[in-house]
Amino acid sequence: MTNQPRLLTTPTQPRVSETPPTDTSNPEALPEFRFETGTVVRYDGHFLFPGELADHPQPHMPLLEAIWTRRSTRSYSERPVPRAVFAWLVRQAMNAPTACNEQQWKIIHLDDPALIRDLHERGSASFLTKTRHCFLLCYNRQNDNRPWQDHIQSGAAFVTLFQLVAHTIGIGSCWIGHLPNKSEVRRLFQIPRAYDPVALVAYGYYRQRVKIMPRKHDVAHLLMENRFRAEEVPFKTKRGGWFRIIARWCYYKVPAFLRRRLRALATPYEKKFYYESYD
Ligand SMILES: Cc1cc2nc3c(=O)[nH]c(=O)nc-3n(C[C@H](O)[C@H](O)[C@H](O)COP(=O)(O)O)c2cc1C
Repeated sequence: MTNQPRLLTTPTQPRVSETPPTDTSNPEALPEFRFETGTVVRYDGHFLFPGELADHPQPHMPLLEAIWTRRSTRSYSERPVPRAVFAWLVRQAMNAPTACNEQQWKIIHLDDPALIRDLHERGSASFLTKTRHCFLLCYNRQNDNRPWQDHIQSGAAFVTLFQLVAHTIGIGSCWIGHLPNKSEVRRLFQIPRAYDPVALVAYGYYRQRVKIMPRKHDVAHLLMENRFRAEEVPFKTKRGGWFRIIARWCYYKVPAFLRRRLRALATPYEKKFYYESYD
């Protein structure tokens, strides 16, 4: 274990089989990225091995490979991420686009176990109990484009970049929206009214392997030409959708001291990611 950020290793140039597509008019023509021996993140057909990046960071890995091999991670190695490495990641993510180039991020870093446990007990994602460090990304919400929630979009762009770059140096992360109401989070962290908490992001060095989750649809399913083709979209509410929305609303209205006691009862209703695999 070292406190030095190990980011200055000369990256070996991996062999990438992919060439950018020349014709994007036909979505079916978009090529499939193939994980071949020689790419930075090993893939055995079932599992990715991003844990190897923790010992051999590859901040210059090909962008496409980083995009295709980053996966949300909810269990991390015991090894703490040095603060200098975190600061380096924040600096990279600051290249994210922001509405009107305002660059109005604020980041509350959390590594106090009691604080993280408290967040969990108030009804946040269960895996937080296994998390050493996370951060709450806030963004100034004082803009004149409120209907488009510019601050949420700008914050989301930051988190996306953070997750991608973190992955290239062996740090897995998970975006967490499963949190108490914003007013409560705001009180807890003394966030002024001008700022909105956008997302909590847990991060830590990867353990060895993660399972790759296939995307649910192909490109053609997403693309529409010139207008929204509602007739092609089956508008179905998820089973139990309304029940879950109302139950969630009621649960987070319960005072925090009571919610802590109800935590065990609420846990079975939380979405879990049991397909994740760790060594
Ligand atoms: C806005 C947002 C909120 C999310 N909230 C949670 C969460 O509360 N708990 C969790 O385990 N994962 C959460 N995730 C991660 C998603 O579950 C994950 O991205 C998804 O399962 C796809 O997996 P992948 O990131 O590995 O492709 C969230 C992701 C986004 C973008």
